[in-house]
Parts: sequence; C-alpha cells; structure tokens
Amino acid sequence: MAASLATYSAHVAARAATTARALEETGFDRLLIHSGVPFTYFADDDDAPFHSTPHFTHWAPVDGPHHLLDVVPGKRPRLVRVQPRDFWYAPPAPAPDFVRREFDVVEVATPDAAWKEIGAAGQRTAFVGAAAEEAGAHGVPPAGVNPKALVARLDWERSYKSDWEVDAISAATAKAAPAHRAAEAAFRAGAPEIEIHHSYLAALGDVEEALPYTTIVGLDHHAATLHYHGKRGREAGNARVFLIDAGAAVRGYASDITRTYVTAAADPVFALLLDGMKTLQARLCVQGRPGTSYVDLHLETHRGVGALLSEAGVFRVSGTKAFEKGLTHPFLPHGLGHFLGIQVHDVAGRQIDREGTIAPPPDGHPALRTTRVIEERMVFTIEPGLYFIPMLLDPYRSGTNRDAFDWGLVDRLIPSGGIRIEDNILVAKGANRNLTRELLPD
Ligand code: GLY
Ligand code: MN
Ligand code: MN
Repeated sequence: MAASLATYSAHVAARAATTARALEETGFDRLLIHSGVPFTYFADDDDAPFHSTPHFTHWAPVDGPHHLLDVVPGKRPRLVRVQPRDFWYAPPAPAPDFVRREFDVVEVATPDAAWKEIGAAGQRTAFVGAAAEEAGAHGVPPAGVNPKALVARLDWERSYKSDWEVDAISAATAKAAPAHRAAEAAFRAGAPEIEIHHSYLAALGDVEEALPYTTIVGLDHHAATLHYHGKRGREAGNARVFLIDAGAAVRGYASDITRTYVTAAADPVFALLLDGMKTLQARLCVQGRPGTSYVDLHLETHRGVGALLSEAGVFRVSGTKAFEKGLTHPFLPHGLGHFLGIQVHDVAGRQIDREGTIAPPPDGHPALRTTRVIEERMVFTIEPGLYFIPMLLDPYRSGTNRDAFDWGLVDRLIPSGGIRIEDNILVAKGANRNLTRELLPD
C-alpha cells in the first residue's frame, strides 16, 4: 500500500490536467461527478449491491451513494460525502487520509445537504452520473448533463492506466491468486461447484457482493456456458474438467482471471487441446505490443484455434482452410479480450479517438470488445477460448462444410465443455507485464 499511496497524488494530478483539457475542449468550466444512486428492486425495499459511478472511482476510491465531486480547473477539488446518521445500515467509512490529502473533503448527512454544499451550478457546469434529474433541479443545464463529447474524452483517458491504477489491478490479482489456488485444490479434492465457489470466497476473505463479477465455476460440460453462474454441478469426485473465471477488487479496480484444469482421467484429445491453448495464450500475451491491432491479435487467435483443432483431428481440413471458411467461430464465440480497470469490461475498447469515434468489430466477430491499436499503458485481458457448445455446432452438422468436421470426435468432446485461459496484461515500456502470471504463474 505504501508504494500505491505515493502514486495516488500523481494520479489525481493527471485527472486534474486531463479533465481541464476535456472541459476546455467541450465548452465547460466546472465538472460535478456523482457517485451514484442505489438501485431499489421494483415494488420492494431491498437494494442491489451498490457500485459507484466509474468516473467517480477514477478520482476517489471511496464508496457510498450520493457523493459529489466538484472539479474546477485551477482549484483544489472538493469531495462532498454523504454519511447519513443511520442505525439500520452502517454509513460509509470516512475518507482515508491519502484521499483527504488530495481533496477538500466535506461530510454531510443528506443528499440535499450535499447539493447545498455545491451551490449554484452555473451555465458552464457539466454533470456526470446517474442522478440526471437532481442535476437539472440544481441548475445544471440540459446540455451539461452527461454531455457526450465530454464523456468520450473522460473515457478515452481511462484507456491509459496510471501507476496508481496498475498497482490497484496488481493488488486485485494478489488478492485473487490464493483464492484461485484454493479453488483448484477443492476441485482436485472432488468438491462440487458450489463448494469450489465457497473455497474461493473463503480464501479471498470477501463477501460475494465485493467481487468485481459473479464467479464462473464450471465442471465438465458447464465449462461450455461462457458465463455459467449456476453452481449446480454435482459431479463431485467425478469431474474431469474445471473452468474457473474469477477475480477480486481492490480500491475500485478489478482483476479478471480464468484457469482451466483437467484431471488425469480427462479425454486425451481434450488434454492435448488444453496444452495447445496454454501455448497459444502465452504467445498472444507477449505479441500484443504497441502498434499491433488488437483485431489482428483476435484473428490470430482464430488461426491458432483452427490449427489446434486440425492437429487434434476435430477438423478434417487444415487449420488455415478452417479459419478461411469461418469454421472456428462456433468454437470461439467471444472476443480475445477487453480493457480492464474500474469496470471489468472497461470503457473505450472500441473508441479510436478522444472525440468518441467508434471502430466496430469486423464482420462475423460481433463479440469483440477491443478494436484499438495497442499502446503503452493499456491494460487488457488476453483470454482465448475453445468450447464445444452444441447449439453453436449443430447448424454445421448439416451445412455445406459438414465434412470438414469429425463429428464422432466432436460428440466425444462435448462432455468436456471447454477451455478458457485469461491473464491481465499491462503494455509497459520494452515488454508487456503479465500482471496475472507475476502472482499466479500456472
Ligand atoms: N469474467 C468475464 C470476462 O472474462 O470477460
Ligand atoms: Mn475477461
Ligand atoms: Mn474473465
């Protein structure tokens, strides 16, 4: 934490500079960022777990709804926190000292009092956050509420991670690493999915609500559901394949890690495919260097998956031919990866300039979240997958390319589910840093 604290000041100074530029370019002279409004289920009095507005977290790693950040270029930023006097729920913890050093922190008891602290908004005030009506009621002009041109610039800056952010993602990895080891041990001991998940949480030492995303714990064919949340697998002691996609959160930043394990009883062809995917994933992690298009890396992944399936005999044609005919698509229906930061699927993956121009993914690859050319300071995941998903494979059984597949082998491999391996990569000077492998080598 000590190293992180030293970098927080520089991180806030960078936010001040980039925000001043964005405001100037878009015709504003003040920015109010709202931390968020709790989501209450319809016709109920129960709230969903609260997630702060990412733009707010980008400045201040403090939790709680209705806070307001007041940024005026050239002035020390103000952080107005709402800490209700409440005996039903614990109010948010006070802001830590390292945050107080960077902001004038004001603590009030109600959202109304927070707006009073802000005062008159003014015609050149911009507001970012979910409480659009509140902002309007307090004088923010309609054109200033979540203005597209400004939000695009703020999102753009989030594609380049500061040392503070890299430290937080790395700390979130350090937190997740022992939990991944505990989950693997539970699988090896024959535990069902729900117990593996509990082993993960116990090692993490966190409540489920504190996870950056719901854990994906899939035994055997459940590994073929990309976001399998059921935890209903009862194949205790008999499972041969285990896919876990699980992370942790530290100071508002996420890690996003996937591992696939097999037992000695796994189908030997599936075990071979897993070895091949490990080699391919490791290669992709170092290939994503500045100047490389992430789209090209994604297409390279499809080529690699094609080659593996051909070598394994699943394709009766060469990997190149399978790739050219698009036959790898049913085996890899998601993108190679995404930006990672405050959001697990972080912003600006398809945004190619600060003004907000979007580069869509190539035809046939709608799930690819990243279409950027890679630059230093980006943090993204590299998560190639290879799955046996019956609903995606079925149309090929009778299509023009049906003879390109060994359907007997496909049917044999369907119960094994699938493979995904996911690391978090920082594009650093000289070479990429694999933030995940530094702490979870296998
Ligand atoms: N954990 C979701 C993903 O890997 O994108
Ligand atoms: Mn991911
Ligand atoms: Mn993941």
